[in-house]
Amino acid sequence: MSSLSKNVLQLFLVMLLGFSMTLFTFAADLTPKNDSATRPNFLDRKMARVTIFNDLGEGLNLTVHCKSGHSDLGVHKVAYPKGFYAFNFRPNFFGTTLYFCGFRWPDSPLHMFDIYVFQRDREVCGKCFWKIREDGPCMFNYETKEYDLCSNWNNRRKF
Ligand SMILES: *[C@@H]1O[C@H](CO)[C@@H](O)[C@H](O)[C@H]1NC(C)=O
Ligand SMILES: *[C@@H]1O[C@H](CO)[C@@H](O)[C@H](O)[C@H]1NC(C)=O
Repeated sequence: MSSLSKNVLQLFLVMLLGFSMTLFTFAADLTPKNDSATRPNFLDRKMARVTIFNDLGEGLNLTVHCKSGHSDLGVHKVAYPKGFYAFNFRPNFFGTTLYFCGFRWPDSPLHMFDIYVFQRDREVCGKCFWKIREDGPCMFNYETKEYDLCSNWNNRRKF
């Protein structure tokens, strides 16, 4: 074989390898995944999303105010029953991401809850859905397809 055709063959093999690696990566992306946010790493930290629904009942519009250490997401109204409030964020590299919210409705005191805690939630949800009820918030359970992961208010936290 002449060295030219050898080089051409080598180039072709390298291109073929590159192409099949691209195909393989693409196929890997299509395999089913559960909805957990991956451990954040420097290059690929997945976005997470928290969505909050009002499940308080007739006449009880909800007011939500969420914050993290770095950001104040402001005050939002979530009308009963159709309203919702959602925010997206990228969990930080250190795995310390925490968002907490204050919840109020007519004649209620201010209730607090840690709506996203990376260490608690990363295996459970990348998209986290919550229904706010008077007794506390309930998270959507991807296994049962119900809002059955209920918590108490965490009224120790203060704004
Ligand atoms: C999702 O995947 C993570 C990591 O692979 C695993 O630890 C977790 O149990 C899974 N969650 C569900 C609901 O299957
Ligand atoms: C709740 O909010 C909706 C939409 O803003 C409004 O139309 C409705 O009157 C409110 N209900 C109460 C009881 O304040």
